[in-house]
Amino acid sequence: MITIIANLKGGSGKSTVAFNLAVWLEKNNRPVIGYDLDPQCTFSDLAMLRREMEYKPDLTIHSVRAVLKEQLLAHAGHEVLIDVGAANLAAMKEALTAADRILIPVPPSQADVWATQRFLHIIGPDLEVMKASGTQQTMAFVNRADTNKSIRETHETEAALRLLPGIDVVLPQRLRLRTGFRRSLSEGLTVFEMWPRSKAAQEFRTLAKALYPDMAGQS
Ligand SMILES: Nc1ncnc2c1ncn2[C@@H]1O[C@H](COP(=O)(O)OP(=O)(O)O)[C@@H](O)[C@H]1O
Ligand SMILES: [Mg+2]
Repeated sequence: MITIIANLKGGSGKSTVAFNLAVWLEKNNRPVIGYDLDPQCTFSDLAMLRREMEYKPDLTIHSVRAVLKEQLLAHAGHEVLIDVGAANLAAMKEALTAADRILIPVPPSQADVWATQRFLHIIGPDLEVMKASGTQQTMAFVNRADTNKSIRETHETEAALRLLPGIDVVLPQRLRLRTGFRRSLSEGLTVFEMWPRSKAAQEFRTLAKALYPDMAGQS
C-alpha cells in the first residue's frame, strides 16, 4: 500500500508519524520503502541517524525532489510511506497519482482546520483522479491533542474535519501532545522503542493498527 502523509502546515507531525510508522511496520516484518519529498529532510535524517547509531531496524528512506508514479508502483511487497510538505506541491501531486491513500495529521485548532481545507482545495483535482481509479481514501486524525479531556478543541476539530468535503475518514485514534514523541525523535528512536509502556506508545500503536487493520494482532 502506498500512503502519503501530508499537510500544508509544517509542525503538524507528518515526519513524526511517518517515522514511527516506518519502524513499527519494519519491526512487525513489513518491509518499508520511504520517500522524503520534504526539503526539510526530517524523515531521511532520522533514517541516517538510526544508521549511525546502528539501531535496528534500519530504514530505507529516499530523500528526493520528486518521485515518478512508475517508481512508486514498482515496490510490490513493500509498504510505501511518503512524507511530503507544502514546499513541494508538484511532487505531492505526482505522488498522488500512484497513492492508495493520503493521511493528514491535524493539530487541534481552527487555523489547522482551515489549513486542511485549503490543502484539500489545492489537491482537489488530483484527489478526484486518485479516487476515480479505485478505492483510495483521504484520512485525517488529530495529532497533538490536548491531554486534558475537558478542553474542547480536539472534539471541535474532529467535528469540523468530518464536515470537510474531500475527507473520507476522520480516525478517532488521535495522538495526544506527549513530550515522548519529541524526545524520542531527537534520539532517532520511536516512542515505542524508547518508552514501550508509555501512553504515547500505546496511542501510537492504536493508531498504527487502525491504519493497518490486518496487523491488529501485532505488538
Ligand atoms: N503528538 C505529539 N506530541 C508531542 N510532540 C509532537 C507530536 N507530534 C509531533 N511532535 C513534535 O512536533 C515537532 C514537529 O513535528 P514534525 O513531525 O517534524 O512535523 P512536520 O513533519 O509536519 O513538520 C517535532 O519536534 C515532533 O517531535
Ligand atoms: Mg516534516
